[in-house]
Amino acid sequence: MSERSDGPADANLPDDVDAPDTEDLEPEADDSAVEEAAKRVPRGVPLKVEGLRKEFGGITAVDGATFSVEEASLTGLIGPNGAGKSTTFNCITGVHEPTAGTVQFRGEDITGERPHAIANRGLVRTFQIARELDEMTVLENLMLAPGHQRGESITRSVLPGLRGDVVRQESELREDAWETLEFFEIDHLAGEYAGNLSGGQRKLLELARALMTDPEMMLLDEAFAGVNPTLEEKLLDRIHDLREQEDLTFLLVEHDMDLIMENCEHVIVMHQGRVLDEGTPEEIKANEDVVEAYLGGEV
Ligand SMILES: Nc1ncnc2c1ncn2[C@@H]1O[C@H](COP(=O)(O)OP(=O)(O)OP(=O)(O)O)[C@@H](O)[C@H]1O
Ligand SMILES: [Mg+2]
Repeated sequence: MSERSDGPADANLPDDVDAPDTEDLEPEADDSAVEEAAKRVPRGVPLKVEGLRKEFGGITAVDGATFSVEEASLTGLIGPNGAGKSTTFNCITGVHEPTAGTVQFRGEDITGERPHAIANRGLVRTFQIARELDEMTVLENLMLAPGHQRGESITRSVLPGLRGDVVRQESELREDAWETLEFFEIDHLAGEYAGNLSGGQRKLLELARALMTDPEMMLLDEAFAGVNPTLEEKLLDRIHDLREQEDLTFLLVEHDMDLIMENCEHVIVMHQGRVLDEGTPEEIKANEDVVEAYLGGEV
């Protein structure tokens, strides 16, 4: 990352020469001061979940979960099967209406809003079981993804003077879609119906589609399950780039502990619908209650 040498700035000077007050020393001092200052600047907190509860008949799937996610972070949400992770995602993104509790996105209460309204705010998710439109091709699925499409308005597409604008937009969209397909290594499937894809290919398409909407925050529910390790690495690199360069925020649900511990700087552990613990990967690994929850949960 940093191209700065780790060695002392005067390491190559002969012994009999006093380390002069040269430029050599200053960049290091400045750099660390900048790094310190950066650490002190509080980041935004785009997502805040408070007292979230979801009951299905007699089952309490989420039981008063409270947590928040820092801007431009890669946060992991883990827990044994049935802990309530997917239900939490469903409540955050409007798929289910919570029984109680609130969800705030960028300072606004979005509790109970419809999924498309939440997606339009820039909060998008992928599903544990991918939900593509089977009767459409891979390319069509991608081109349908972005929120506000001018081509949708009939008046706009027939009014003289505006038609060119719509056509131009569509070709840009098509180009974006192709680039995205190439990146996800599914361009050879562009003309295939989504219904004919394998489970892993569908998940890639779903992730690609979510990214096409140009989101601010993404919730990924086991997005990498079944993806080959080389491509997984490439997608994770992309995720790191997006958060570093564009401040995108990610909340990941994964059962692959190595993936979570190596990529997330903050981890939230759910157990029986509640937040059992949260902290750095090191803190989480050292918590015996977490280990116990997993062993008890047959993971
Ligand atoms: N639509 C539903 N109707 C009834 N019960 C549900 C529904 N969705 C989830 N549940 C129940 O809520 C609990 C939490 O399920 P959830 O899918 O949120 O867990 P999870 O942490 O995502 O698990 P996994 O790791 O297996 O995906 C489980 O007991 C599940 O059976
Ligand atoms: Mg789940």
